[in-house]
Amino acid sequence: MKIVVIGGTGLIGTKLVKILREGGHDVLAASPNTGVNTITREGLAEALDGADVVVDVANAPVWEDQAVLDFFETSGRNLLAAEAAAGVRHHVALSVVGTERLLDSGYFRGKMAQENLIVASNVPYTILRATQFFEFVSGIVQSAAVGEEIHLSPALIQPISSHDVAAALADVAVGNPLNGITEVAGPEALPLDELVRRFLKRTGDQRKVVPDVHARYFGVALNDQSLTPGKNPRIGSVRFEAWLDQSMAQPAS
Ligand SMILES: NC(=O)c1ccc[n+]([C@@H]2O[C@H](COP(=O)([O-])OP(=O)(O)OC[C@H]3O[C@@H](n4cnc5c(N)ncnc54)[C@H](OP(=O)(O)O)[C@@H]3O)[C@@H](O)[C@H]2O)c1
Repeated sequence: MKIVVIGGTGLIGTKLVKILREGGHDVLAASPNTGVNTITREGLAEALDGADVVVDVANAPVWEDQAVLDFFETSGRNLLAAEAAAGVRHHVALSVVGTERLLDSGYFRGKMAQENLIVASNVPYTILRATQFFEFVSGIVQSAAVGEEIHLSPALIQPISSHDVAAALADVAVGNPLNGITEVAGPEALPLDELVRRFLKRTGDQRKVVPDVHARYFGVALNDQSLTPGKNPRIGSVRFEAWLDQSMAQPAS
């Protein structure tokens, strides 16, 4: 089976390409770095020639509100049109658990636009929504810093290892289209402020985490349902502490 991974050079894409190749598939890692660009359409038709499945794990290079919306709209339109022309039989996209609950954030308005284009297209699809990657916790810290303190909501979060996300995506990619949404989450739900406290402690960061129910997450007010999955998500196997131990021992994998 020929599988094209759009964003195949990124965090998830690299892991997904490896898993699919190990499964014996003919996999193309497509991204600007390999000559395939979903914004300019450079190399797109050629990349999709003969493809059975396309997995979109691209991400916007700039996260300013309008730029991220433009990215996901243009990329989604160009990609789905090229897939329809090439006769692709399954479009798989990676999105975020709770996207429709997080629309006060420009980034999530971009992800919602991406999902809406997929649902409206004629290409059979599966949208896999994942919770926050462990690798993203440092980005949360950065966005919540107020001087020497980190202000965070104690709302529940259920983060996941990027390996578990890639494994779930690989299974979706070789399965039949659901023409719907499915979810994957980490093995443990815990308060966001507590997650970050554990992260800072393990990384030797002295800053204090201040719990604040009104603290916004990328502009969004949170409750315990905002970031956590609905009924029956697939659950990853890697726990946050195990990931921390591993990433402190060997920085990149
Ligand atoms: N972070 C989280 O916690 C989280 C949670 C759930 C879902 N997600 C979703 O996961 C997806 C993947 O995230 P990631 O962290 O793996 O991303 P990443 O590491 O930032 O990688 C982004 C990829 O997109 C490619 N790309 C950028 N512009 C492109 C274009 N014009 N055409 C084709 N490819 C392009 C990049 O290619 P180059 O290397 O060539 O630049 C790169 O391969 C995103 O859609 C994100 O919304 C993230």
